[in-house]
Order: sequence, then structure tokens, then C-alpha cells
Amino acid sequence: MKGLILSGGKGTRLYPLTYTRAKQLIPVANKPVLVRVIESIRDAGVTDIGIVVGDTAQEIKDVLNSRTDLGVNLTYIPQDRPAGLAHAVKISREFIGDERFVMFLGDNVIEGGITSLIQDFATNDWNSQIVLKEVPIAEAKSYGVAVLNPDGSVNQLIEKPPQPPSNLALVGIYMFDHHVFEAVDSIQPSKRNELEITDAIQWLIDNEYRVYPHVHQGWWIDTGKHVDMLQANDYVLDEIEPSVSADAIIENSELDRRVSVEAGAQIINSVIRGPSIIGSNAVIKDTYIGPYTSIYHGVEIEGCEIEHSIILENSKVKNLDMRLQDSLIGRDAEVGSDQIGKPRALKLYLGDYSKVWVPK
Ligand code: G1P
Repeated sequence: MKGLILSGGKGTRLYPLTYTRAKQLIPVANKPVLVRVIESIRDAGVTDIGIVVGDTAQEIKDVLNSRTDLGVNLTYIPQDRPAGLAHAVKISREFIGDERFVMFLGDNVIEGGITSLIQDFATNDWNSQIVLKEVPIAEAKSYGVAVLNPDGSVNQLIEKPPQPPSNLALVGIYMFDHHVFEAVDSIQPSKRNELEITDAIQWLIDNEYRVYPHVHQGWWIDTGKHVDMLQANDYVLDEIEPSVSADAIIENSELDRRVSVEAGAQIINSVIRGPSIIGSNAVIKDTYIGPYTSIYHGVEIEGCEIEHSIILENSKVKNLDMRLQDSLIGRDAEVGSDQIGKPRALKLYLGDYSKVWVPK
């Protein structure tokens, strides 16, 4: 069995963060989502993994080449344009050969890993297995949606239907045998001019191949938008086993037991409530960090209250007289107040598509 991770795409709904970074590299609980995806495929026993990459290929390679600890063989498969998930399968034919494979979208985070799923597929003679999740019906129109037969097999799949016929959304994890290559060669581009994997799976069904679902019971997040990143961060922080690095410096501070502190971090005169994580070499002074907060490496925070937020590497947040909450701050950003006095005004240097909310 092989693995295929799709890691192209522009991530427009995560602007401005994704102007300068691949969306799959944004960390959740201090680990890039793409690394989480690789680990869950590896933990299911699949170590030969292809990664389909687009414009952000170099950045993705740089990050993954520095992660020699992952214990997988990675093959990069360049996709010259974002032409759809089925197009990504098409160009991966040589890498996959005739093996069965699991395809995982590089921006999806799922509870509990995929070991049992892979075992399920390996022990059945199904041609494809898809993962579904029950979602509120109003949200189903944002996903591929499945209708099942009375015997539990898949009857119909529709990509982002305006009027969803069911509340079973397609999670971005799919398993296939080599028949999928015939399917992706047989379908036509959709209205959004992409070769949809949903249409390829429908082709398999229409041609009497066996497609079965697994209905996932745990949480699942497609980290497409800011609010999704924060929610994925909540879920993952709830799951991680907290640990405090022996070489962290903690002075005159109160940490609850659900707090992780990475190497070289300094926490001085501060209160940290978990679940939360403080990254390596971060410096936290005279600060309150509340639950569900991830502070990435090299961040400096002084004289603040921060809760339910993600702050990315090397940013500085200082002397805010209001709590920072539900926030996602990119790399090398600075947020703070100064002592200049009048006029009392907001001073902003914001990138395109940034968002700021100030309470009245
Ligand atoms: C893709 C699939 C969709 C699926 C979703 C899961 O959508 O086309 O069927 O439900 O991933 O994340 P996209 O993220 O390309 O809009």
C-alpha cells in the first residue's frame, strides 16, 4: 500500500497567512498540518508516500527535508496547475503503479488516525473506500456529499450540492485500487473547471466497482479557514500528552498540568492555563496565557492576556491593555501598544486581506 498526499492549492480562504506560506504548513498545536498527515499515514504502516505539490513546492520540500525524524520515503509529484483532486491522481500514476493507496488531503486533520481504516480496506476486496462524516445539513453544501444504498454501499456522490441530499460529507481521505486511473481518465472537468475526485468515484460506482464508506465518529476539520485552524488547534491541544522540557526556564510562574513547554522556552512572572503549548525559545513575561493557545517557537510575549489563539513563529505581542482572544497571528508579526500618548489612535501596518476587530 502507498500513500498520496495532496499539498498544492492556493489557500485563498486563509489569506493573508497563505500569501507567504503553504496552507498545509500552518501549524496546529505547534506542528504543521502536513506533518500530522504524514505521521498518521506512517502510523498506519504506510511509509512510501507521494506528495503532490504546486506553487509552494520548494517551501514544502524545505520543511520536510529538515524532518529526518519522520521515517518515511517521500516522492514529490509536481502539479503544474491546480486542476483538481482527480488530476492529482492522474499525474501520480507512475508513482502508485498498480498498488492500492490511501489519498489524504494535506489540510485535513482527523481524530484517532487512520490505522483501522487502512486495515478495513486491506482486508476487503473493495475497489474504493471513502470516509464520511455527518455534518449539520446547512454545512453539507460546502463538501462532497454521499447518498448510501440500503446495503451500506455508496449510491451517489455530488460535489458541493446547493441542496444537499444527505448530511454525509466526504472527508478528505480516500482509498483506491488501480481502477481509479481509468476513472480519472474518463471524467470531464466540473463547473469550476477541475477534475473532481467525487466525479471519478461516481464513475467507479456507475461502472459497478465496489465503493464502500466508513462513517467517521470522531472530529474532523478541513482547515480551510481561520476559524477552522482555531478549532483544529482546540481539538489537538485536548489530545496531546503535555510535557515540560527539562531545559525550559520557569520562574515565579504558575502552569497548570495540561501545559506543554518546548526546549529553551522562558516563562517568567506568568500564569499559563492549559491545554496550551509554548514553543521552543519563546519568551513569556508578565503574561496570562489562557486555555487553547499555541505559541510557536521564538515568540515573545510581555504584559498581555492571550486566550484561544495561535501565534506563529518569531512574532512579538507586547503590553496590550485588552485580552487578545480567538486570534491567529502570522510569522514575524508585531502587536502592541506604545507610550506615545495623544492622539490615542490605532496604528496599523496590515497586509492585504488582514482582519482586525476592536471592541467599541
Ligand atoms: C475537497 C473535495 C470535497 C471534500 C473536501 C474535504 O473540497 O472536493 O468533496 O468534501 O475536499 O476537505 P475542496 O477542499 O477542494 O473544496
